[in-house]
Amino acid sequence: MGSFFPEEILDEIKDHNRIVEVISQYIQVKSSGGATYKALCPFHSERTPSFVINDQKQIYKCFGCGEGGDVIHFIMKIENLDFIDAVKFLAEKSNIPLEIENHSKEMKKEIQQKMLYYEINKKAAIFYYNNLIRGQNPALGYLLNRGLTTKIIKSFGIGYSYNTWNELLNYLVKDGYQLKDIEKCGLILPNKENTDHYDRFRNRVIFPIFDIRGNVIGFGGRVLDNGLPKYLNSPETILFNKSNTIYGLNFSRKHITDGKIILVEGYMDVIALYQEGFKNVVAALGTSLTKSHAQLLKKYCNEVIICFDGDEAGVKATIRSIDILKEAELNCKILLLPPNQDPDDFIKEKGKYAFDEYLDKAVSPIDYKIIQAKNKHNLALPEGKIEFVKELAAILKQIKSPVEREVYVQKIENEIGVSKQAIHMEIYGNKGTISYEKNLKYSSNNKRDNKYIEAVPPAEQNGHIMAEKKLIKTMLVKPDILTLIIKKIKPEDFSRGNHQLIVEYILNHNIGDQNQLVKDLPHLEKDIEDILTTDIEHLDVTKILEKYIVNLKRFKLMYQAKMLQQEQKKLMENNILNKEEVEKELLKIGMEIMKINIEIQRLQF
Ligand code: GTP
Ligand code: MN
Repeated sequence: MGSFFPEEILDEIKDHNRIVEVISQYIQVKSSGGATYKALCPFHSERTPSFVINDQKQIYKCFGCGEGGDVIHFIMKIENLDFIDAVKFLAEKSNIPLEIENHSKEMKKEIQQKMLYYEINKKAAIFYYNNLIRGQNPALGYLLNRGLTTKIIKSFGIGYSYNTWNELLNYLVKDGYQLKDIEKCGLILPNKENTDHYDRFRNRVIFPIFDIRGNVIGFGGRVLDNGLPKYLNSPETILFNKSNTIYGLNFSRKHITDGKIILVEGYMDVIALYQEGFKNVVAALGTSLTKSHAQLLKKYCNEVIICFDGDEAGVKATIRSIDILKEAELNCKILLLPPNQDPDDFIKEKGKYAFDEYLDKAVSPIDYKIIQAKNKHNLALPEGKIEFVKELAAILKQIKSPVEREVYVQKIENEIGVSKQAIHMEIYGNKGTISYEKNLKYSSNNKRDNKYIEAVPPAEQNGHIMAEKKLIKTMLVKPDILTLIIKKIKPEDFSRGNHQLIVEYILNHNIGDQNQLVKDLPHLEKDIEDILTTDIEHLDVTKILEKYIVNLKRFKLMYQAKMLQQEQKKLMENNILNKEEVEKELLKIGMEIMKINIEIQRLQF
């Protein structure tokens, strides 16, 4: 950027002249949601607006005539000014002095200091680069060996620092720079006695780190062998702040054609991908992605494709980055590399076409989290499945759209054979038909002594019990539909033991005689009375029967499944049986649960 004005001043002018406000002073602008605004293009005649302003990125673009740029560009066009006059125009409007001399003393000092540091860094980068291409060093061979071309080495300004203590220092001092300034750039360090200085980077391959405009703001130095630390970076300086610097963005920002950026972990990953034609690539340099990184990326792209190393640290960093990108409202996808490969290794080994295929197969954050959860648990074992479903539920809870959530539930059901209902129960907890906590209380030990297992915990009974009573009363007073009911329902489908006994009696005796019923089941008199006083006047039996029966059955099956899960849990905590026996039991119960789940599913249709 050989511009006439210091970048700091241009930045300040742009900060004070927000693009939407400026353009609104010329044409009528309408919000079209989010950070975008629309207008009728002032540069060509049109009836429907194709002139779009992006407030986030501080740019405009007309999709009709192709005109576009930043706020300065807009003023150049609309006021018919050249660049310098457009800058002056906006500076005056916002009362920003253009000449450094007219700025406050502090601002002036800061600008001058920064400009000096940019200069020193640039000199150092050129010095390192010249060292490298001179060729009398192990670094050039090392880089060529790693597959870099001399062309890419030049583009990225890669260099080498000799294994000496003050070669850079001497060079810069000779060039007229002061020690304190060189030190402020992080290029040299004072010795312990503070009597002398020495070079920070020695015998390392040097990667200059650029800001968005291409100024050198810091360096990363890599050892040539297995020494430690593998990478040594510049310290934080006035110019270099790791948490808002993105490596490679100055190169890649011109190659973001479809709004997508590939985010990798390291210098070499960026350079290797760039060399192979994937030029929309950047790195956050070892540090984890920060909010400011995300905000910076958002100025240049809409979607980030995370492509970190396929190791454990890579997975962790991916999950963290997903959340940060989501918070910044950036779309995100994840490219899954084979375990223990980084993008650089991958593309070298498998080539660019393979990488392209992997790019196509990049997955959504939810898919990624599900894949990781799957990898973590042994799905061949019931307890593995249970743990997986729990983790899955936590992941799916993050999805706001119920439709989208269902798509995932369906997918998992097909893939690993856990029923939709089981997943739903984990996601929604007791918002479903059954209350987990209440069931726990209800699971008394003596219930197995009863002839019938009561399927519904008392606290849940109201609606169900009423429906059961109505159904039983119908059986008693409308014997003509008894055969229909018998086909659909068995005594044990009723939730209460007493109801089960009454129904069994009715079915066995095939009677509708209420008096006989009371005589034969005197201990159930109260229940029978209850049933007989239940109002079925407005009951459209055939219509609700079907629905009721399905509900009843499902309710019962879900309860049974939950009980079996309880048993599994107890088994896992059990320390009497040996591991093998526990696993055998777990598997048996797991099969039972699965059978129940299949039955539940059948009921749905
Ligand atoms: P190569 O081994 O050269 O391919 O490097 P890499 O990019 O594969 O390295 P790695 O995956 O180990 O690290 C990714 C990034 O983390 C690097 O590019 C550095 O920015 C950073 N990094 C790695 N090791 C260190 C270190 O020891 N210190 C610091 N400060 N950063 C490191
Ligand atoms: Mn690597």
